[in-house]
Amino acid sequence: MQDIPVITIDGPAASGKGTIAARVARSLGFHYLDSGALYRLATFAALKHGISLDDAAALAAQAANLDPVFDGEKILFEGEDVSTAIRSEAVSSATSQVAAIPEVREALFNLQRRFARAPGLVADGRDMGTVIFPKAELKVFLTATARVRAERRYKQLVERGEAADLDALTRDLEARDKRDRERETAPLRAAIDAYILDTSEMDIESVEKKVLEWWQSR
Ligand code: DC
Repeated sequence: MQDIPVITIDGPAASGKGTIAARVARSLGFHYLDSGALYRLATFAALKHGISLDDAAALAAQAANLDPVFDGEKILFEGEDVSTAIRSEAVSSATSQVAAIPEVREALFNLQRRFARAPGLVADGRDMGTVIFPKAELKVFLTATARVRAERRYKQLVERGEAADLDALTRDLEARDKRDRERETAPLRAAIDAYILDTSEMDIESVEKKVLEWWQSR
């Protein structure tokens, strides 16, 4: 693991980190870890199997045994394509509760570290640069105002033909950020050696270009 180059991209919900991380991984031919998907999957599995979201031990035991299959953009779980299901608002909201449980975070630690394989990894999440890959060669922290992030999500939902309410999305993002920032274990924050980029006024191409420039000039 030590010699595998790792780029971490952390930031709040809907900051664009997933899109950027996937594009940077593709440009460099690196593997990609969407750590949020693992927390979402752990939550989805708990809901599916009737595990109480208050039962830390049962949640952690189940998270430790998660065996997700990543097939391109798809995530398969117990033979089912759950890519869309894990992104529903209900799962999103329950996930920020489950992700605050230290035992669950601990249970997912090794699974995340195993994604670091040659020729390299781009990992996105909340604590990639602070906890999971503290020795990463390049750490990026993306931010954007809650309103801009809500507008981006709104656009995505409308494009998918789903109902969306911009004010409700803004409030929901703010509440989720607050929980992610204020939790005791691995709270959302930039690593001290991270490059911080406010993407409120930037498009995806410019953000990707900036990250690749940092990578090339490291
Ligand atoms: O990045 P995302 O929106 O898919 O993340 C879903 C949830 O999981 C969100 O509430 C934050 C949490 N999460 C986390 O606590 N740590 C990570 N490394 C990634 C996600």
